[in-house]
Amino acid sequence: MRILPPRIVDIVQQPVGSQVVVQGWLRTRRDSGSLSFLEITDGSCLKGLQVIAEDALPNYAGEVKRLTTGCSLRVTGELVTSPASGQSVEVRAATVEVIGWADPETYPLQKKRHSFEFLRSIAHLRPRTNALGAVARIRSTLNLAIHQFFHDQGFIQVHTPVITTSDCEGAGEMFTVTNLEPKELQGEQPFAADFFGRRAGLTVSGQLQAEIFAHSHGRVYTFGPTFRAENSNTSRHLAEFWMLEPEMAFCDLAGDMAVAEAMLKYLVGVVLDECEEDLRLFEQHVAKGLIAQLLLVREQPFVHLSYSQAVAELQRSGQGFVYPVQWGIDLQAEHERYLCEEVARAPVFVTNYPQAIKPFYMRLDEDGRTVAAMDLLVAGIGELIGGSQREDRFEVLAARMAAAGLPLEEYGWYLDLRRYGSVPHAGFGLGFERLVQFVTGMHNIRDVIPLPRTPGNAPC
Ligand code: 4AD
Ligand code: MG
Repeated sequence: MRILPPRIVDIVQQPVGSQVVVQGWLRTRRDSGSLSFLEITDGSCLKGLQVIAEDALPNYAGEVKRLTTGCSLRVTGELVTSPASGQSVEVRAATVEVIGWADPETYPLQKKRHSFEFLRSIAHLRPRTNALGAVARIRSTLNLAIHQFFHDQGFIQVHTPVITTSDCEGAGEMFTVTNLEPKELQGEQPFAADFFGRRAGLTVSGQLQAEIFAHSHGRVYTFGPTFRAENSNTSRHLAEFWMLEPEMAFCDLAGDMAVAEAMLKYLVGVVLDECEEDLRLFEQHVAKGLIAQLLLVREQPFVHLSYSQAVAELQRSGQGFVYPVQWGIDLQAEHERYLCEEVARAPVFVTNYPQAIKPFYMRLDEDGRTVAAMDLLVAGIGELIGGSQREDRFEVLAARMAAAGLPLEEYGWYLDLRRYGSVPHAGFGLGFERLVQFVTGMHNIRDVIPLPRTPGNAPC
């Protein structure tokens, strides 16, 4: 039983003749003779609901005729068949109550189309637009679908901490968490007197903590906000983003990739099935060919290439890349995009990267040069997922940690997982905003998160 009154997405499904209550914001008002046509949206779906207000309403001249875009309203009336094209029903108003006015002199969202750049400058109002409204709905659908997928596969969710003392990726991109003033953070051991007695920061990944629970519960995932003080102003990087990280015991790299592929196909399928109207908006206004591409992702098997094969393909390509290609380099966005858009023409797993360019926790391959890593590259984005089989051999891990300069005494707990009942295990991280970009075709990652945090930018 629903507790709150139905919203537009449900109201339009009710039988003609129903008495309805519509609560939302005015998109447009058009007057014609003795009538006004009011288009009202409430965020529950892309399309607004048309309300017919007649001049017989007691507040018609005094209020209805003064309504402008952005005003909030409560309308009661009868659902009737609509003669207009593009909608099957409309509401004949019995009452139109103005809840909140929106001064047209200053309200920045007008009927015309605004650029995404402009909308970023009014992040608190942009969810009311068609595109940003659709992004928020698709994001929410994907969020729920992620939990559904892992629940169905027998995983449990683990809430890993946001404040941590381990820099999982070892890239030195951790934001420091402190309650001291900058001038107090000095001397040989600047954090000794700090809240946690040592340097703590915002998590860059929940993987290491997820590994703890993989060694007790077998199949787990963590999904939450992740922070990186990466000073990269690109269309694919945020300082605060959401990451999904499954971790599986008794699983190798092949199993890891099988889960990632099945998951992505499932998530794309849910959006195709449940968000048709919103997807059509992106297809029409943002990314032509989007729906066909998503259908292919759902149907086609993903391609697998080893890093060495990928490097050979790039060298053979004859492309003038900005970053020259040779074995040992980290692949750049231009290389990643070439591999999935031109070589594989499908999502592609690149595997077994050189160990020197990957973090300490990835399992060393037999050749001693590469690790059991995988990145999933997709068209338009590049790296969507990064994962690996983890190093489960105590001696090898300890040696790699020492080589990476990690203080072994601080990671005793992580080594204990290899000391007591170690098992082969694997996992991956999916950048949730990159997934939302991928399914909507939105060009800039700042437009697929409600309130983006990037260098120099955290307004509300
Ligand atoms: O490849 P990454 O750094 O992998 C990890 O953090 C592993 N610990 C994951 C694991 O195995 N459990 O990050 C994983 C994904 C990337 O593939 C990318 O999609 C996304 O996280 N990502 C970002 N998304 C937005 N902004 C950033 N600054 C991102 N950095 C990584
Ligand atoms: Mg990565």
